[in-house]
Amino acid sequence: MIATTPRKILGVVPAYQTLEGEGFLVHRAFPTPWLADVDPFLLLDHMGPADLAPGEAKGAPDHPHRGFETVTYMLEGAMVHKDSQGHQGRLGPGDVQWMTAGAGVIHSEMPSAEFLDRGGRMNGFQLWVNLPRADKLMRPRYQELPADRIPAAKSPDGRVEVRVIAGEAYGARAVIETRTPIVYLHFAVRPGGRVAQPLAPEFDGFAFVIAGEGRFGPESQAATPEQVVVFEHKGDLVVAESAGTATLEFLLIAGVPLGEPIARYGPFVMNTTEEIHQAFEDFRSGRFGVIDF
Ligand code: CO
Repeated sequence: MIATTPRKILGVVPAYQTLEGEGFLVHRAFPTPWLADVDPFLLLDHMGPADLAPGEAKGAPDHPHRGFETVTYMLEGAMVHKDSQGHQGRLGPGDVQWMTAGAGVIHSEMPSAEFLDRGGRMNGFQLWVNLPRADKLMRPRYQELPADRIPAAKSPDGRVEVRVIAGEAYGARAVIETRTPIVYLHFAVRPGGRVAQPLAPEFDGFAFVIAGEGRFGPESQAATPEQVVVFEHKGDLVVAESAGTATLEFLLIAGVPLGEPIARYGPFVMNTTEEIHQAFEDFRSGRFGVIDF
């Protein structure tokens, strides 16, 4: 089937600057006073971008998650993570960690020792993907992909490059498996380039502008860095073009809405308040385990 109907824009809203973890800057795309969530996505943080002096980098020490997935995509800088399941790893530029917290993990996400010592530019994303009721208490699962294993593709005219973290674009298909259908694409559009990305009608989605200037949708709505472009549900195509003289970079993130009730408290996202109480109880009584290495 050929996609023919561009999705209109529901709205363009700014990210909100706040501090996370031990106090590192994030641009929060949502939740904000303007945008609560985009089902099935609960949160998107743009970590930084920030130029950090030696000793200045901060992270998020031991904390729990239950009921959803955290997806970390680094653009610059380096993080190390450790968790209560005995996993540890390092994320550098272009690397992705897709962690399905499911029933629960405790993890830490900290700058690497080398990055902390030297300083440098911190720039990356963390996305929270909600899990359907049936998967909320699944066994935790990890998918870690170094930059060179993320499929990439180019448009026929060479003006658009895309990295395919989830979903499919220009014939390149993601290697990461998702519990429900998810699209996570990182586009770089050179001046004069145009994106026409099919997006099946059952998906809801948004774009987040990282760099450059873009025009989105059939009405060419302008968007600039740290802005979220929310697409209407109707239609089967996302259109965007670069405006101005710099390369437009944006994330296109979409998923099939779960349409389930959300009970959310800090690092726990369940369907009911009772399940949130249970999460606290399980966490307090040590059933999430500990980071012991
Ligand atoms: Co976390």
